Amino acid sequence: MPEAQALFFVVILVLLSFYNVRVSGAQSTDPAEVNALRAIRSSLVDPMNHLHTWNSGDPCLANWAGIFCDAMSNDSYQHIRELQLLKLNLSGSLAPELGHLSHLKIFDVMWNKINGSIPKEMGNITTLKLLLVSGNQLSGSIPEEIGYLPNLDRLQIDQNQISGPIPKSFANLSSIKHFHMNNNSLSGQISPELSRLPLLLHFLMDNNNLTGYLPPELSEMPKLKILQLDNNNFSGSIPDSYGNMRPLLKLSLRNCSVKGTIPDLSGIPQLGYLDLSWNQLEGSIPTNKLSTNVTTIDLSHNFLNGTIPSNFSGLPNLQLLSLANNLLYGSVPSNLWDNITFGGNRSLVLDFQSNSLTTVPDAFDPPTNVTVLLHGNPACAYADRINIANFCQPQLVNKASGNTTRLTFNCSPCPADVDYEYNPSSPIPCFCAVPLGVDLRLKSPGISDFRPYIYDFEINLTSLLKLFVYQLYIDRYIWENGPRLNMHLRLFPSNSSLFNVTEILRLRRVLSGWEITLSDVFGPYELLNFTLGSYANEIHDRSSGISKGGIVGILMGVFAGVTALSVIFTVFIMRRRSRKGLSSERHSLSKFSIKIDGVKCFTFEEMALATDNFNSSTQVGQGGYGNVYKGILADGTVVAVKRAHEESLQGSKEFCTEIELLSRLHHRNLVSLIGYCDEQDEQMLVYEFMPNGTLRDHLSAKSVVPLNFSTRLHIALGAAKGILYLHTEADPPIFHRDIKASNILLDSKFIAKVADFGLSKLAPEQNIEGIFSGYVSTVVKGTPGYLDPEYFLTHKLTDRSDVYSLGVVFLELLTGMKPIAHGKNIVREASLACHSGKMFSIIDSRMGPYPPECIEQFVLLALRCCQDETDARPSMSEVVRELEIIWKMMPEAYITTPTEESIATSSDKVSKSVSKSSALRNPNSSSNVSTSDDVYSGMHTVSVTPR
Ligand SMILES: *[C@@H]1O[C@H](CO)[C@@H](O)[C@H](O)[C@H]1NC(C)=O
Ligand SMILES: *[C@@H]1O[C@H](CO)[C@@H](O)[C@H](O)[C@H]1NC(C)=O
Ligand SMILES: *[C@@H]1O[C@H](CO)[C@@H](O)[C@H](O)[C@H]1NC(C)=O
Ligand SMILES: *[C@@H]1O[C@H](CO)[C@@H](O)[C@H](O)[C@H]1NC(C)=O
Ligand SMILES: *[C@@H]1O[C@H](CO)[C@@H](O)[C@H](O)[C@H]1NC(C)=O
Repeated sequence: MPEAQALFFVVILVLLSFYNVRVSGAQSTDPAEVNALRAIRSSLVDPMNHLHTWNSGDPCLANWAGIFCDAMSNDSYQHIRELQLLKLNLSGSLAPELGHLSHLKIFDVMWNKINGSIPKEMGNITTLKLLLVSGNQLSGSIPEEIGYLPNLDRLQIDQNQISGPIPKSFANLSSIKHFHMNNNSLSGQISPELSRLPLLLHFLMDNNNLTGYLPPELSEMPKLKILQLDNNNFSGSIPDSYGNMRPLLKLSLRNCSVKGTIPDLSGIPQLGYLDLSWNQLEGSIPTNKLSTNVTTIDLSHNFLNGTIPSNFSGLPNLQLLSLANNLLYGSVPSNLWDNITFGGNRSLVLDFQSNSLTTVPDAFDPPTNVTVLLHGNPACAYADRINIANFCQPQLVNKASGNTTRLTFNCSPCPADVDYEYNPSSPIPCFCAVPLGVDLRLKSPGISDFRPYIYDFEINLTSLLKLFVYQLYIDRYIWENGPRLNMHLRLFPSNSSLFNVTEILRLRRVLSGWEITLSDVFGPYELLNFTLGSYANEIHDRSSGISKGGIVGILMGVFAGVTALSVIFTVFIMRRRSRKGLSSERHSLSKFSIKIDGVKCFTFEEMALATDNFNSSTQVGQGGYGNVYKGILADGTVVAVKRAHEESLQGSKEFCTEIELLSRLHHRNLVSLIGYCDEQDEQMLVYEFMPNGTLRDHLSAKSVVPLNFSTRLHIALGAAKGILYLHTEADPPIFHRDIKASNILLDSKFIAKVADFGLSKLAPEQNIEGIFSGYVSTVVKGTPGYLDPEYFLTHKLTDRSDVYSLGVVFLELLTGMKPIAHGKNIVREASLACHSGKMFSIIDSRMGPYPPECIEQFVLLALRCCQDETDARPSMSEVVRELEIIWKMMPEAYITTPTEESIATSSDKVSKSVSKSSALRNPNSSSNVSTSDDVYSGMHTVSVTPR
């Protein structure tokens, strides 16, 4: 122990001496700026004494609170780069001396109680990029001088009491991207000159007192994505030119007193959000189709007449269509939800209340996720039909706010001392850590229902912040007027109980400096608060200059070590407990009755009946999981029943989780799950039956009718697409882990379908920028010959492990060989042949004539997939792309539909196998498009096929 103390002492001495060296070598702050800061300080009122560090020493050297400096300059001084005084309870006013901070880039005093006006002297700070004063009590008008800031990128003055016009000079802000001036008392005409702004993205002027006409010229802004002007007092109509604002994503003119008709907005290719409600719009609704991106259409409370046009149907992303309180007549359309894939939290609200709609079609039967509101229409008055009555109740449309719910574990309480909390998203249950609190608000989101987008948001935000998805937990979110989406987030450290100070400072800088931009669909965000909690002292010590940070770091390290040990111990105990609990947990699935969409629960009797009591004559396969039987259900459907071996039996909960996972996977190149059975110590999975068996069977020497080259290539492409879907579209992503020719099944048309996710393990959360090592460490499983050598050595499973196995399948397709036969390895044989210039000697002669250039490309691709080093292999999406290129390279003469030659053995389908080769090649030029669609669509991008 005495040694430890001595060591500690030495460490402190070293740190302190380092600190002194740093001080003596550093430059002091420009005296003009020091004086300016003093003046700024004295005109602010700081009741909580957050700025006490500003009383002594040099701003940059003594790290005054909220001051960030740039040492790099031509003169011998340091300069203030950022003034960050977010939410510190400050009042008082902004001193004109601010204008002397001649190197300032970020000025942030948001969410305080500062009054007075914005000093015109700020127009002197030519370096200024972010001017952020939202959420204060500023009044007066915006100084013209601000309009001459050449570098201003973001002007946020929203939620103040600023009045007067938008300065004409703003047309000079050549770098401006964000005008956030909503919720003030700005008045007057929007100057048409503003349309000169070359980079403006967001024009948020809602909740002001603007008047005059809407300038048609605004449509000329080359980058404008959001035009939000709700609650102003314009006159005249919406200019037709607004229908040509090609970059626009959101147009919101609620309660703007506009008249006239709705312009044709079909020329806005990515319009996502349209709100023209509470105006005096008249005439009928334009019938041209809106962008398929649209989530929200609100045209309520106008004087629109005519019928509900058909262009509102087939919008796959629609969440809300409100046409309430208009003069619409005719019939309620019954196909508005046609192209929406429900499931998860997707829902649709159709509000048609208080119109003159007279009829509801007989077959009006919206899915449960669709809310239709018809109250106040004549159709309801004559509603003797019972099914309509449901839709005729008066109802307010409320936006869903909520708490996100996660699996909860029975954790013993976290250490009470320093704000420890469970991270509910942690992959390790009951992991105690100290989070940071972040209040974030989406100012102008492109959606009206957050629920289906929560996961996207988590992925998006964490990747931008360079965090793992599990480091973010959304506590709650609530819709506010605007509508704006306010949310409280907690950020947890990764793999440790505490954040280090550098990481905290980085996160705060990224968020408060707007260094990130969320996906367009979420629109601009604002940081409302960044709560340090018990980190506050460390951060403060750090920024007050004394290098206590180092000491704190050491202490935190020791502390984290101890905590980590205890966590490991806890997890160990939990694991043991749960293993013990497993056998008693094996009850029937109904005990964990979760609703699994589209998957049927079968009884053991039904399964026995279907398979003739699991008669060996019905057995069609055998795998690691168990035997596979061909069965015929009572309704005549032919299925494949996979019956688990004794060793493969899982706890019902796990089995249930697996089914839930499988039921969510829909792709034309994946075998789909029809149902399951879980009773009497039996677990079975019921799949669609693949009449043409496995690819392995068709490649074996026994195969009577060998596959030709185009069919083989087509199968390769199909399999690659199925796997690509698992990697990129499945949610969460899935690595197959056991790709082999006997797991690629062929349907009646020889379309490849990937089977057997028995070994699948959820892939790690994807990180968009690929910063983190995306692998799962597991016990090695798989089939010899297909196994990624690097995975075998390191136990690190990546998406490239599947690429390797698929590469082996490609080589099988090309050579007809088995992966390992007579002591020869297919990868080695193929690469030897290629390197010695004898590539064509190994090609399977049974496939008949082939285009040599395609074969060559295909072989090279296969060998690249089978490289030893993970990084040298292409990704699955590259594999798909290359196969598509090879397919397109293929001369027409070689293309036959897979069905043509091989189906001849299976009599009943012969009639269907007409030649479709021309349609296959060029779907647009041929009248055969629709008949070939099924074959053709397999050749294109991955699509999720709803069942
Ligand atoms: C700062 O602004 C004031 C008023 O706008 C102006 O008179 C003055 O010349 C400016 N000072 C500098 C150094 O640019
Ligand atoms: C808006 O302008 C009108 C008339 O110009 C005025 O009466 C009203 O007080 C203004 N409202 C606000 C909030 O400034
Ligand atoms: C619809 O409204 C427009 C404008 O108010 C009017 O001219 C037209 O006659 C109306 N059409 C019908 C069929 O009511
Ligand atoms: C619009 O939809 C397309 C196709 O789904 C998508 O690629 C694009 O990102 C969407 N745009 C926005 C702004 O969401
Ligand atoms: C649904 O989408 C398909 C193809 O994407 C399209 O052909 C069809 O017209 C759409 N349905 C409706 C009602 O628009």
